Amino acid sequence: MSDSVSLQDRGLDPAKALAGRMMVVTGATSGIGFAAAQALAARGACVIGVGRSEARIAEAQAAILSNNPSAQLSFCMADLSSQRQVRALAAAIREKVAAATGGLDVLVNNAGAVANWYTATEDGYELQFAVNHLAPFLLTHELLPLLRAAPAGRVVTVSSASHRNAHIHWGDVMLRRNYNTLKAYQQSKLANVLFSFELNRRLGADFHLRAYAADPGLVNTEIGLKGTSGIVRWVWERRRRGGTDPDHGAATVIFLAADPAVQASREVYWKNCRPLAPSRYAQREEEAARLWELSERLCGIESGGAR
Ligand SMILES: NC(=O)c1ccc[n+]([C@@H]2O[C@H](COP(=O)([O-])OP(=O)(O)OC[C@H]3O[C@@H](n4cnc5c(N)ncnc54)[C@H](OP(=O)(O)O)[C@@H]3O)[C@@H](O)[C@H]2O)c1
Repeated sequence: MSDSVSLQDRGLDPAKALAGRMMVVTGATSGIGFAAAQALAARGACVIGVGRSEARIAEAQAAILSNNPSAQLSFCMADLSSQRQVRALAAAIREKVAAATGGLDVLVNNAGAVANWYTATEDGYELQFAVNHLAPFLLTHELLPLLRAAPAGRVVTVSSASHRNAHIHWGDVMLRRNYNTLKAYQQSKLANVLFSFELNRRLGADFHLRAYAADPGLVNTEIGLKGTSGIVRWVWERRRRGGTDPDHGAATVIFLAADPAVQASREVYWKNCRPLAPSRYAQREEEAARLWELSERLCGIESGGAR
């Protein structure tokens, strides 16, 4: 479904449909996150993009503003592998949002990484688990008061079909003993779905803040070319050629962030702007609760968050 078509059908000007909405998009400097930030800003949202380098941020900002000089766009910088930087990022976002409106309508947890080898973050955690799961978990926790202040808040976390082949390796979540790039990636994308289910459970059935997991399909981005070499790089270089372009890949993310109809739905996992059943494992309540408790411990959060 094309969001702009559905907006026009409802008599709304697509360029203004999201005016006044505050949205944060992590990983907005390339691929799916860049495309989503650009499209949401084009519909009038006030977008705070997150990037990890000044140069990449400057490039992304210039590209979006050259297409849309009146875009309400700003950026924050953080390396999401560092919990210290995730907390500082949340503080910077709080400052921007408080100054603007007092509520954050949408948080898009999109930033993601692939790593060839076992790589420890400054907190001592495996890089993919840290960037792809713990950073969204911690950032969401830190921004919950702002999201709750919005009339209809949404947390959209970008997962992947690769969650389907995964389980949580409870005996060695960081895969220190037996690291494998794909196994670590799949586990982190499963964690995105378990997190979205558990956040909804903890918020309660009637709460006006909802969490969704977006599956963008196979998208032709450079994700597998960063922090990789050898066979991993070779495989992704070929595999990505079969993927859609990032604008298409971002469609479900944009839909979940923007479409008014989504709020009434209790579906959690979405692909091609439609709900889809995730793996059975991803729907197991006891696994989601266990992962939540582990994530709280790993992020130094007092137990019971999001209640
Ligand atoms: N591509 C696919 O086929 C596919 C399929 C399913 C799911 N996904 C998911 O889609 C999301 C976006 O991926 P993509 O394919 O668009 O890849 P991408 O083009 O490489 O974008 C990833 C974004 O995350 C940022 N990032 C990576 N590590 C970071 C860190 N430590 N701190 C802060 N930012 C960091 C990158 O910054 P830089 O610009 O500086 O590199 C970039 O903005 C990921 O969560 C991925 O798992 C992708």
